[in-house]
Amino acid sequence: MISKEVRKYIKDSFKKGKVVCLTGAGISAESGIPTFRGKGGLWEKYDPEIYANTEGLVSTFRTHPDNIVDFIVDFYSLLLKAHPNPAHLALAVLEKESILSAIITQNIDNLHQRAGSRNVIELHGNAFRIRCMQCLKAITLEKDRLKEMVELLKINRTSRIKLLKVLSRYFPRCNAEVSACRRDASEDSHIRHCGGRYRLDIVLFGEILPQDELSNAYKQLDDCEVLLLVGTSLVVYPAASLPLYAKERGVKLIEINSEETALSDLCDYKIIGRASEFLPEILGVLKN
Ligand code: OAD
Repeated sequence: MISKEVRKYIKDSFKKGKVVCLTGAGISAESGIPTFRGKGGLWEKYDPEIYANTEGLVSTFRTHPDNIVDFIVDFYSLLLKAHPNPAHLALAVLEKESILSAIITQNIDNLHQRAGSRNVIELHGNAFRIRCMQCLKAITLEKDRLKEMVELLKINRTSRIKLLKVLSRYFPRCNAEVSACRRDASEDSHIRHCGGRYRLDIVLFGEILPQDELSNAYKQLDDCEVLLLVGTSLVVYPAASLPLYAKERGVKLIEINSEETALSDLCDYKIIGRASEFLPEILGVLKN
């Protein structure tokens, strides 16, 4: 249960000023998606230098395509089965009640949106979206289509050629019309298409974050009163720099995590426990 002191603080401050929440893998743990670090974490089974890194993925695909397929199948099977849990739902209600202004998330699982949250800033992309690497057009991948892809990958897991055929079907070339300003005057009568290749719209290790999302995240923190830190180890930058930025501006930090994190000492209040228990409790405190 949340201590009396924290309850009082939540009651007094949450309705006065802007509240923003930064989430990480821990909030989705109880939806059946493992976290990255720690016991049972994804990086325990899969080396991130291979599976979260473009060069690692490409070179392993050349030598052991079945390993890459096993990783994709494992990961997507969990994502496709997952549903928002009480922690995601509580945040969505807090937004509906105009108490929470925005969620900044490092998660790619789409569970905040599925819970009903609207203002979700995705720092690391979304596994249910593909984006053209040239013109940046984004397309949502429906669940059924992803399930179909996973099945085809499984069937063809040992043949690189067959796998490439499957992948090119789900990651096609972009047919967006090239805008008039980029078109040569002599080509006016022809419609040209972008032709760039789509890829998953997620951020891998070493890649830069979507800059509009990152600057939007900083903007949200500029005038906020409280930043909730939920289910994130706060060891991956630049996401982990957001609480530091907020703290410098006098924002109060409240952490909800099942254990201490890299930035726990910086927090004004720490709630050690499961997000799916404590976020609904916060909601209850505010409603009573
Ligand atoms: P981590 O796996 O590093 O941390 C998850 C945190 O959630 C840990 O601090 C756990 O203690 C906590 N936790 C676990 N279950 C919880 C629960 N039920 N309630 C509350 N807390 C719980 O995940 P992130 O911090 O999200 O990036 O990792 C950040 C980034 O590292 C990810 O977005 C990903 C990864 O590499 C990329 O791949 C680019």
